[in-house]
Amino acid sequence: MATLDDQFYQPADQFFPAHSGVALTYDDVTLATLYSEVIPRDANLDTQLHERLQLRLPIISADMDTVTESPMAIAMARAGGLGLIHCNMPERQQLSEVTRVKNNVHGLIQEPIKVSPGQLIGEVLAMIDDRRFGFSTFPVVDEKNILLGLLPGHVVRERYATRKVSEAMMPRAQVQTIHERDLGQEPIVAADKFFSAHMGIHKLLVVGDGDTLRGLFTLSDIEHILHERGSHFKPARDDQFRLLCGASIIGLRKPDGTLDRDHIAAQVGALVERGCDVIAVSTAHGHSAGVGDTVRLVRGIFPELPIIAGNVTSAAGVEFLAGCGANVIKVGQGPGSICTTRVVAGVGIPQLTALYLASRAAAKCGVTIIADGGITKSGDIVKALTLSESVICGGLLAGCPEAPGQIMEINGKLYKQYRGMGSQAAMAAGSAARYGHAAKDATRKAAAEGIEALKEVSPSVELVLAQLTAGVQSGLGYLGTKNLGELRKAARFIRVTPAGQRESAPHDIIEVKATK
Ligand code: XMP
Repeated sequence: MATLDDQFYQPADQFFPAHSGVALTYDDVTLATLYSEVIPRDANLDTQLHERLQLRLPIISADMDTVTESPMAIAMARAGGLGLIHCNMPERQQLSEVTRVKNNVHGLIQEPIKVSPGQLIGEVLAMIDDRRFGFSTFPVVDEKNILLGLLPGHVVRERYATRKVSEAMMPRAQVQTIHERDLGQEPIVAADKFFSAHMGIHKLLVVGDGDTLRGLFTLSDIEHILHERGSHFKPARDDQFRLLCGASIIGLRKPDGTLDRDHIAAQVGALVERGCDVIAVSTAHGHSAGVGDTVRLVRGIFPELPIIAGNVTSAAGVEFLAGCGANVIKVGQGPGSICTTRVVAGVGIPQLTALYLASRAAAKCGVTIIADGGITKSGDIVKALTLSESVICGGLLAGCPEAPGQIMEINGKLYKQYRGMGSQAAMAAGSAARYGHAAKDATRKAAAEGIEALKEVSPSVELVLAQLTAGVQSGLGYLGTKNLGELRKAARFIRVTPAGQRESAPHDIIEVKATK
């Protein structure tokens, strides 16, 4: 029997059809609370985008050139989410970015600064000065990266400037190393054990087959990591215990306008070979022949590879991409904080309505969806997850130290650049095809659909995600749901008025410290 509450707070399948004449987004609705026995911190945020793509946190960093390269993708996967490495860079570089993520071992410096036996101590001193290194102990390797010894800090002194590294180094036989295969599944524990067993040694070199140098642990890093072990995040890993990593591609065309099939096949093949777990065909208009052809092509060659494709905002768009072979569909046209698609093209749908339509089509087609863009606070994520399996964030992460780009100071405040992939600058750097323009038109004829902006510098990805996670778990707690599947079933919506929106944010106070 319908209760009084049921007349007001409606599940998605009642609420959205009842509002079919209006396009709604996050701030237009609120979620009603339900009886709860769930303690927020116990709420589980695991999500499955595909049978081979299980995340511990339903947050993905955007494939944008001011958001996701390897440092961001590593931080995202370490927290249980996923990073999509953007493709506004040479393909070879994108491959190395993926490799860095897949080879990442927490605490292991994978590309330590090395010296060669023929260098003079004076040259090493100049390098330290030039690059402002705060350390002076270096592995010594030959041109094939084979370990020859260790140059200890106590001989890197002006008085020995004219001596060669080979004369001053500790020879290979005396250098303590560990083979990478012996690091096991808990490299930090292995390194910690080593340092306890070898009093006074502060550097542990990791070697691979043929005694090639693979990395370096320092005692201070390990102590720091162990000290911070309070982190409650569980990393998102593949079946070989490597961090998950995604990469985006663009369906390149030949001069005659047809898809460059050989090129796309080679590019995706190389990414898969490097261990890339999922490919994203990211465009502004996913319900289009070009994107469909690209997805079909990739699906034909890689039957098992998880494919994300988008973006769409309609049920038909989801059905189309699912029919072409995509497994995960990105939903969002124009909600992004740097997007101007709706202004420039007059097109795009506010997120919640778009997500509702997409989610119902996705359930029929057996695919999952990601809410892409427009997320400004954890409450938006909770609302998005009532209809989707995950969210993509750009702006929320662009100010983190792990995002690409330099920090700049303006009037005493610190900022990082954040730009739309459809902005003139990003299109000139290579992303024009994502917005359906030819590269040569990027600076002249193409109408920009994004802006160049600044974000205030924010704390590390781990801290930002910890805040967001706590907010999302709190949302699940209010609805009495202990996981995302339950959230999707339990959510009840009601529309809020502008007065209700004002009431929802801090009001009638003098804000001393802003929170999101
Ligand atoms: P947020 O709101 O998280 O949005 O900053 C990130 C998402 O915005 C999309 N994106 C764009 N959309 N013009 C657009 O209309 C652009 O220039 C642009 N650049 C990125 C993209 O889906 C991203 O994940």
